[in-house]
Amino acid sequence: MKKIILVIAAVMAFSLAACSQSKTKEEPKMNDPAAKKTLVAYFSATGTTAEAARQLAKAADADLYEIRPEQPYTDADLNWNDKQSRSSVEMKDRKSRPAIKGRLENAAQYDTVYIGFPIWWYTAPTIINAFIEQTDLAGKTIITFATSGGSTVSKATRDLKSAYPNLTWKEGGLLNDRSLSEAQALVERMK
Ligand SMILES: Cc1cc2nc3c(=O)[nH]c(=O)nc-3n(C[C@H](O)[C@H](O)[C@H](O)COP(=O)(O)O)c2cc1C
Repeated sequence: MKKIILVIAAVMAFSLAACSQSKTKEEPKMNDPAAKKTLVAYFSATGTTAEAARQLAKAADADLYEIRPEQPYTDADLNWNDKQSRSSVEMKDRKSRPAIKGRLENAAQYDTVYIGFPIWWYTAPTIINAFIEQTDLAGKTIITFATSGGSTVSKATRDLKSAYPNLTWKEGGLLNDRSLSEAQALVERMK
């Protein structure tokens, strides 16, 4: 009888050890750099930045996330010649925060986040501020990119750096060609 109990105890101890071992193996290592991913998050009112973002996601082997306004921008909203248009009013009030549809889930899995937007009035649209403020980006490298009629992304990056000095910023560049080779060159520059 004693022998049987001993055998059962030994079998149980062995299977417990095997079980805990396989569990350790399956658990992702949180500090493993290979486990971290890249995200391309973008806002696009008329599709230009969206195309650039798709090329960039390909070039960087990254996930893609669209920052979508709760209320899409109409042509009238985008009329910069009209001081009363939605974009003019929002950009004049740097504290405006247009509502975003949905939220980025699982931000923790990314260590590099490209943030892209059309240049509006030489800087980033305020929906970008809304996105940054509702997403935990602490400790991640944030790289700016944009499309524009010619303005660079420099002032936008400076403005974002000074609004969020505790985040880690890098200036990416313009992707006005919206080509894969242009996006690949940007990714290379950021290495
Ligand atoms: C309200 C508004 C302001 C703009 N201001 C600028 C600007 O200051 N400099 C510039 O080069 N382009 C400016 N543009 C042009 C856009 O940056 C450009 O068309 C961009 O590629 C549009 O991207 P999207 O299609 O992703 O919205 C402006 C466009 C709009 C609608």
